[in-house]
Amino acid sequence: CGIVGYVGSDDACDFLVEGLRRLEYRGYDSAGVAIQPPPSGSNSDSESSDSESSGFYVTRSVGRIASLAGKIGDEPVRGALGIGHTRWATHGPATEPNAHPHLGGDGEVVLVHNGVIENFQVLKDELIAKGYEFKSDTDSEVIAHLIADALKQAPETAEQPNLRYLTAVQASVALLRGTYGLAIAFRDQPNLIIAARFGSPLVIGVGRGEYFVSSDASPLAGRTERIVYMADHQIAVLTPEGFSVIHRDQGKVRVDIRPLEVGSGEASMDGYDHYMLKEIYEQPESIRNAMRGRLDDQNATAIFGGLNLTPQQLRSVERIILTGCGTSWHSALVGEYLIEELARIPVNVEYASELRYRNPPIENNTLVFGITQSGETADTLAALNETKRKGHRTLAICNVVASSIAQAADGGVYLHAGPEIGVASTKAYTSQCCVLAMLGLFFGRMRHLSFEGGQRLIEELRRLPNAVQQALTCDEQVKEVAKKYADASTVLYLGRQYNFPTALEGALKLKEISYIHAEGYPAAEMKHGPIALVDDATPSVFIVPQGSTYEKVLANMEEVKARGGPIIAVASHDDAHVEAIADDVIRVPQVQGFLQPIVTVVPLQLLSYHIALLRGCDVDKPRNLAKSVTVE
Ligand code: G6P
Repeated sequence: CGIVGYVGSDDACDFLVEGLRRLEYRGYDSAGVAIQPPPSGSNSDSESSDSESSGFYVTRSVGRIASLAGKIGDEPVRGALGIGHTRWATHGPATEPNAHPHLGGDGEVVLVHNGVIENFQVLKDELIAKGYEFKSDTDSEVIAHLIADALKQAPETAEQPNLRYLTAVQASVALLRGTYGLAIAFRDQPNLIIAARFGSPLVIGVGRGEYFVSSDASPLAGRTERIVYMADHQIAVLTPEGFSVIHRDQGKVRVDIRPLEVGSGEASMDGYDHYMLKEIYEQPESIRNAMRGRLDDQNATAIFGGLNLTPQQLRSVERIILTGCGTSWHSALVGEYLIEELARIPVNVEYASELRYRNPPIENNTLVFGITQSGETADTLAALNETKRKGHRTLAICNVVASSIAQAADGGVYLHAGPEIGVASTKAYTSQCCVLAMLGLFFGRMRHLSFEGGQRLIEELRRLPNAVQQALTCDEQVKEVAKKYADASTVLYLGRQYNFPTALEGALKLKEISYIHAEGYPAAEMKHGPIALVDDATPSVFIVPQGSTYEKVLANMEEVKARGGPIIAVASHDDAHVEAIADDVIRVPQVQGFLQPIVTVVPLQLLSYHIALLRGCDVDKPRNLAKSVTVE
């Protein structure tokens, strides 16, 4: 979910709607804004069921920000204070009553929340017993009523009118178990927003006579150049006159005002029908950008400026943990094969959501990499924080500059892939694989990899953008293959060694955007279960480029063919045998084994794209997903 808030003298509504648009990658189930109109002036007639009791104009809408913007219409409510939210549903379906902002008490509190409140049911029962009425199924509404309740007990101080509200928020958040990023406004205290953070990132934009709050820095680009990253347990008080931050239990804290590093992240479709297709086609360039300035011919190694580790620390690394979610977890698997082969360092791949709770023994001299496109995925952030807490060095492989994970890690590598808008990750994945290959080279050259070995690898890396460019020429053929299988209800993806992660990624792409059930398996493992699914209506996609397991995979293909299963093969250009077994063969250029995943995934990205189109699915914003999941 995403949060925005504004207090100042300008118009809040425009900022809120545009800010929410930039935060839509965090969820697009529903959205809403609450705007405090100026005390006297008349306002537009924006429809609002809650405005009378709360004094706020509240507009909520199911679906995308575009639908909220449509509802607000051409005559937005003019007011200089407001908060807004875009939701990825956790507690309660995506309905209008469940959309934020939520009102508390008789409307004296209005808030937006990101995170999950684990003890919400207990708190809700207590509040209901006290007579509070709930209008939604959300855990968030509980916080609104809690604050309204706490306000009843908070004493008024004439000299410091905001103190009462701060005290009520402090007392309320102390009762919460779970995570929260909150922006709260008050009916009876105009010009005041209180923001609170625990486990869900929040930033403050520092303007002149105006202040902003947001889940990440992107809505602030173009509005302010100064930013404060709030830390856990901090509560901020924002008014047009200034802002201050306290620690929930320890009083006032000094904050570090930093320059805003992010651009607006604007991206256009450049004539493509969808962002996803554009991003697939951008891969030759995004891979080039990932490598730019990082290949060192003189020393036959890679250069990384931002690892923030001494050569001694880097040489003493004895284990690497790669962690991430979704597609980023798949690139971690590619990284495992690569780094173990090139650098001979043991690598473990962990789901970020599991690493956090599994509490595995981690030896000294272990380096933990969080891999993430957005840098905002809650599970990955939490896994890095947990390993950091235990004293391990954490690095990020991340696309979005100055994102929460980039900030939290001790150092890292940016992908420089440019904004990725399509929810299904494509160019970030190949850039992650490319960065991991360069890390394999880098660590390898510190250990066993020879100068010549390093040079050969650099040459191979340099060939990649052209190889991917060539792989893209299969698009028309893939479109035809898509027509044959668009009605399948299950598709198997099978590959071995470096292309086992490709099988997983191909299956994930199809699931995400076409809603067809798909499974990725190591090709040889198929005979231990999934082969039972094979019949003439269940296609299998084999990734079978030339390499050490080529003949083994051919044998697996025969096993499927013998059972009447249709076969789509992704094979190398110079292959002579696949044609005899497969129904359709998609050709890709042959590259060095450990770089194959970067090339072989391209036709699979296109296949999912074309199948999704044929099925009439919303390619860039598939149902139920978010580009980045910012709750646990
Ligand atoms: C979400 C997206 C996936 C993505 C995953 C990790 O689930 O739908 O496409 O791979 O998050 O995102 P990250 O930004 O951390 O790479």
